Amino acid sequence: MIISIVVAVADNGVIGRDGGLPWRISSDLKTFRRLTMGKPLIMGRRTFQSLKKPLDGRDNIVVTGNTDYQPQGAITANDFAAALTIAQACAKERGVGEIAVVGGTAVFAAALPVADRIYKTEVHGNPAGDATFPAVDWSQWQEVSREALPRGPSDDYAATLVVLYRRRA
Ligand SMILES: NC(=O)c1ccc[n+]([C@@H]2O[C@H](COP(=O)([O-])OP(=O)(O)OC[C@H]3O[C@@H](n4cnc5c(N)ncnc54)[C@H](OP(=O)(O)O)[C@@H]3O)[C@@H](O)[C@H]2O)c1
Repeated sequence: MIISIVVAVADNGVIGRDGGLPWRISSDLKTFRRLTMGKPLIMGRRTFQSLKKPLDGRDNIVVTGNTDYQPQGAITANDFAAALTIAQACAKERGVGEIAVVGGTAVFAAALPVADRIYKTEVHGNPAGDATFPAVDWSQWQEVSREALPRGPSDDYAATLVVLYRRRA
């Protein structure tokens, strides 16, 4: 089973602000939908609550320490390992070979040691924010593709989608 991290991160490491995204970039939203559609997604409770509704066509697996939290349209897990077990079962049921980990900070940190791929939208700006992507040892990762996402008329920043695979010995 391939475990992928899907993230949009600014030049200064910022991924979030005030419980939402610190930018509007429509090509990144489309890229996120394309990369995650039909797959089980693992996300933190705050990321789930930042959504208007559960993401359609995908399993929304929400990590929370609160055993009373049972949001509609999502499956909850009490830690990352439990989320991964649920995601693997969901992927088998869907007949897909990939799980997407979609944030935030602590969830990305838990996924980094076991992830196979990182789909990283590099947002070319330095917005203020209160959530950041954790430190990564990039020497463990091999860039396999890079695609410019030009800034459209209603986008805050230009961006680049970089795909990285974990280097195998
Ligand atoms: N740019 C991007 O790609 C991207 C992606 C995702 C999110 N974001 C942004 O980042 C912000 C949200 O991220 P965040 O880091 O603040 O929060 P988060 O990771 O989405 O949620 C944090 C919560 O998840 C639960 N959690 C996380 N790890 C856990 C673990 N190992 N065991 C049990 N529970 C765990 C806890 O929930 P409880 O408190 O319920 O116990 C914790 O308070 C928002 O601004 C969002 O828009 C950006």
